[in-house]
Amino acid sequence: MSSENTVSINGQPHALPDDPRVSLLDMLRHHLGLTGTKKGCDHGQCGACTVLVNGVRINSCLTLAVMHDGDEVTTIEGLGTAQNPSALQRAFVERDAYQCGYCTPGQICSATAMLDEIAAGWPSDASDSLDGPMEVSAEEIRERMSGNICRCGAYANIVDAIRDVAGEAA
Ligand code: FES
Ligand code: FES
Repeated sequence: MSSENTVSINGQPHALPDDPRVSLLDMLRHHLGLTGTKKGCDHGQCGACTVLVNGVRINSCLTLAVMHDGDEVTTIEGLGTAQNPSALQRAFVERDAYQCGYCTPGQICSATAMLDEIAAGWPSDASDSLDGPMEVSAEEIRERMSGNICRCGAYANIVDAIRDVAGEAA
């Protein structure tokens, strides 16, 4: 299949919707039934809808599906399964890093890309220098994950889970 008018979702090609008003979030949830990605605010404020596009995290509620012709999208379903979870998925369970679980897919997608950003030396507002290397400190994690809101307030355990995977747990 040509990449024209298709988007790869978790490694599978899908035709883009005919309606140019469909957000990527609605395509995932309503057209494809990938309900792991959550709609919290639908306004770019909560991070529940975070997915990876070509390895970079974005809010899928703020982008139109038709803008992603030829892109590679990864959702929480593409990171791991119950039988074969990713390291972050396992750490969130082990650290009890969720309560209702609504924000959790977005938190894990965001953390997955965030650890790559730190490894690549991208600075944040919490970084001591612009040049790195970046430390995976609790302060860095809190700053870099500040776009992902948890209504249950599971933040302390979320930070611990991410630090576990970064290999810097206390
Ligand atoms: S649903 Fe997209 S940021 Fe809240
Ligand atoms: S675990 Fe409930 S919103 Fe985060």
